[in-house]
Amino acid sequence: MPSGRKPLLLWIAAALIATAVLAVILVREHRSVSMRQAPYVTGDPQRGAALFFGEKQCSICHSINGAGGQTAPDLSATRPGVPAMGWLGTVLWNHAPGMFRQIRRRKSYPQLNSQEMADVLSFLYQAANTDRPGNPDAGRKVFEQKGCIRCHSIGISGGKSAPELSKIGEGGPDEWMRAMWNHSQSMIAPVTAALGTWPQFQGTEMNDLVAYVSQGAAVAHRAEPAGNADHGWKVFQARCIQCHSVRGQGGSLGPALGPEHELPLTTSQFASVLWNHAPAMERLGRTNGITPPTIEKAEMGDLVAFLASLRYFEPTGSPFVGERVFALRGCARCHGPSAEGTSTGPGIRAGGDAYTSVSLTAALWKHGPQMVDRMEELGIPWPQLQPSDIGDLVSFLNAPKHAP
Ligand code: HEC
Ligand code: HEC
Ligand code: HEC
Ligand code: HEC
Repeated sequence: MPSGRKPLLLWIAAALIATAVLAVILVREHRSVSMRQAPYVTGDPQRGAALFFGEKQCSICHSINGAGGQTAPDLSATRPGVPAMGWLGTVLWNHAPGMFRQIRRRKSYPQLNSQEMADVLSFLYQAANTDRPGNPDAGRKVFEQKGCIRCHSIGISGGKSAPELSKIGEGGPDEWMRAMWNHSQSMIAPVTAALGTWPQFQGTEMNDLVAYVSQGAAVAHRAEPAGNADHGWKVFQARCIQCHSVRGQGGSLGPALGPEHELPLTTSQFASVLWNHAPAMERLGRTNGITPPTIEKAEMGDLVAFLASLRYFEPTGSPFVGERVFALRGCARCHGPSAEGTSTGPGIRAGGDAYTSVSLTAALWKHGPQMVDRMEELGIPWPQLQPSDIGDLVSFLNAPKHAP
């Protein structure tokens, strides 16, 4: 793992949010306390990275952004779906037969307890959410087509009415996106006057633009781990919460940015979203006497990490749907229709400890090789799960026995 940044203690962010939420619940009594939030999953990506590359030896077969073994898929290659934990559990489950076969050829099968699983999964989630290197040629077109070139130059070609930008580009992606954002407020008037509109960034355009302006610097910077969610939460409270709420706490001038809201996942997506909304933020800020926030040093990445941590919620689900999924996916064939157990599979209804998506994933990891064997013996195809299944299965397995 590249080092030099503080550990990404997502759980601290989680605890802070939880505390904030509690405070809000206490203060605003009209918010129903019975609207119970599932517990946060408290994975620490930095610890997860250490397990992945060290003790648990995942990196013997897998790589992350090209670093590690080459006999199994690069685990940063797929964009995570939602819900985060449901997605991760599903990916692991769906690939289990192929993986377990390979792992068992080796001497030791690594065991992961729930905490370790949470750490590894949060690491995988972050690793899959970093920007890939952009396309500099496409970025040059973005610079031209968005009209930046009418005022700015990179090197010699381009407009001269605004600063030449290659120095900022050389500072790397973070520095570029921060400069763009911090100057957006003073650009709004001249840009909308010159272009008749405020240019919008979609898809990978920002990432490509960054690749164009920062050339070599982009690659070096991309190897850095994502931001510090704990610090991101502090920045959010200082500069964003007046307008945006998280889980009911905060202002309402901008949209609520809780876990239900689709949020940008990578730094360049985040920078696009901020840029696109600069005029709206300016307008609303002006009428309400709020100065649009500036962003310093690594804060852009920290904010992204904080927003990502909001997705570490347990996926929600329904015990009724879960019972049906349990039958549909074939789990009931071995574990029985209400998971009470049969001769081919143990009872797995939650007893004392309720399942979480992470502990279910850890249990599947632990017992997976046995399950694969049993399915092969019985000629049952390995059931494929959907990301939304995990939440439903968890609530089904946790429901009281006779009234699922
Ligand atoms: C001995 C080699 C080996 C080891 C060790 C190993 N894996 Fe795998 N893993 C595989 C193979 C092979 C696949 C692909 C299986 C398939 O698709 O059939 C896979 C698939 C996966 C997938 C799904 C990948 C995708 O793109 O959908 C995840 C997630 C995963 N492994 C996580 C882990 C974790 C976490 C560890 C360490 C605790 C680990 N693996 C250790 C060989 C390994
Ligand atoms: C109508 C002219 C105009 C257009 C079009 C324009 N800008 Fe600017 N830009 C400016 C001006 C003027 C400044 C200096 C503002 C300031 O000092 O705060 C600036 C500042 C910047 C800065 C910070 C420069 C520094 O020295 O810190 C960046 C980065 C930037 N613009 C990027 C862009 C990008 C990317 C586009 C296209 C999407 C763009 N600009 C379009 C006029 C423009
Ligand atoms: C002055 C009020 C204000 C402040 C301060 C503010 N925002 Fe916003 N923000 C808005 C408004 C208004 C919108 C919606 C704009 C629109 O609809 O075009 C928005 C939109 C967004 C969106 C996009 C949401 C979506 O669904 O598209 C994100 C993400 C965002 N803001 C993040 C932030 C962050 C992070 C900060 C702190 C660094 C921040 N905002 C500070 C007012 C604000
Ligand atoms: C072919 C039979 C079979 C099928 C189908 C099957 N399992 Fe299993 N399962 C087993 C066996 C056997 C074990 C015990 C393995 C062991 O002891 O290592 C087990 C163990 C488990 C455990 C761990 C229990 C514990 O106490 O930690 C969980 C959770 C689980 N299965 C869930 C599922 C789910 C969810 C499905 C459907 C998606 C499913 N199983 C489908 C046979 C099966």
